[in-house]
Amino acid sequence: MSKTQALLQPIEVGDLALKNRVWMAPMTRSRANNAENKVFDIHANYYRQRASAGLIISEGSQISPRAVGYINTPGIYSEAQTEAWKQVTQAVHEEGGRIFIQLWHVGRMSHPDFHGGKLPLSASATNPNSKSFTPEGFKETVTAKEMSLEEIKETIQDFKNGAKNAMEAGFDGVEIHSSNGYLLHQFFNSTSNHRTDAYGGTIENRARILFEVIDAIKEVMPENRIGVRLNPSLHGVFGMTMNEETIPTFDYIVNKLNGYNLAYLHLSEPFTDVSKLEFAEPNIAKRYRPIYKGTLVINSAFDQEKGNQIIEEGLADAVAFGKPFISNPDLPERFASHAPLADWDQDTFYTPGEKGYTDYPKLEQEKVG
Ligand SMILES: Cc1cc2nc3c(=O)[nH]c(=O)nc-3n(C[C@H](O)[C@H](O)[C@H](O)COP(=O)(O)O)c2cc1C
Repeated sequence: MSKTQALLQPIEVGDLALKNRVWMAPMTRSRANNAENKVFDIHANYYRQRASAGLIISEGSQISPRAVGYINTPGIYSEAQTEAWKQVTQAVHEEGGRIFIQLWHVGRMSHPDFHGGKLPLSASATNPNSKSFTPEGFKETVTAKEMSLEEIKETIQDFKNGAKNAMEAGFDGVEIHSSNGYLLHQFFNSTSNHRTDAYGGTIENRARILFEVIDAIKEVMPENRIGVRLNPSLHGVFGMTMNEETIPTFDYIVNKLNGYNLAYLHLSEPFTDVSKLEFAEPNIAKRYRPIYKGTLVINSAFDQEKGNQIIEEGLADAVAFGKPFISNPDLPERFASHAPLADWDQDTFYTPGEKGYTDYPKLEQEKVG
């Protein structure tokens, strides 16, 4: 019976043969609580437990010290961090899984406390009027510093360096985090990008940085191992608001991504109800499936039934599950046997240590001999 579920069918993504379409969405878990922001054995164990996902997309991992915005998130810029990630990729591969790393720069969502008092960087000097998760707890965000052209160039190089390190660390690919109100999304949106140079003004200019990042990353790894994440209808979250330019901007980006042979495009349905907003597209998969020619993975608030349905309808090729993977390390097996799902505990999403991280049990112990 389980064989007929669309979610459990294998899928070819570039040159990778993935065993199912139940992918693990990227999730920050703030467990890298050491001075160098390195992953360690608990991360290897956590990802090993979830290796039955068709593809794991790792937690957001900062590409430079300037890119960080939350406590205890791992980096992928230093040699020590790269070395440390090897135990994670090895663990996932030993279990027959595949893992991409999410390359992250939070831009204006950061806080001076992370940067020796210096302002966080963004497309323009704007404040998301949100909260930043600093070493001293949640603090009000500040008005960021507008990036110079030199800083934009450096940031593109940081993405490239992160991708190079990711390959060195044994990842199967990278996902560019151009979503959820973080740096690249801040460039796309005309409410956070007031630039008048080549990176602002027109849609083409506001989207430019993403394509320069892809072009730079392509120099150090195969194009068909690069994924891109977008959240076109993000509104009222992390300082993002939509306007009349939002959907035309994402239409342009998705169309232009067709010019690349990417591993996949990862889209989120709206995180909040946008059905009554004038400028919002409430049905992301419906709008973008006909436009995007490559592999499309869809996310946000899916369950087994809706996941199977959206693939059967031809609106997505795979589904990325977030919170269900936190509390159900064996999510594909549970779907296969129609087993009940365990609830997640929000209180331990971002707390250090094993609790709420590696202590969610699998459905049953494997029977030995
Ligand atoms: C604890 C937690 C951490 C998250 N961290 C990230 C992240 O690092 N990068 C990212 O792109 N999205 C992140 N997200 C968003 C998820 O990838 C996903 O979009 C969201 O949870 C909705 O999917 P779900 O309903 O299946 O949980 C996070 C979500 C949660 C709950």
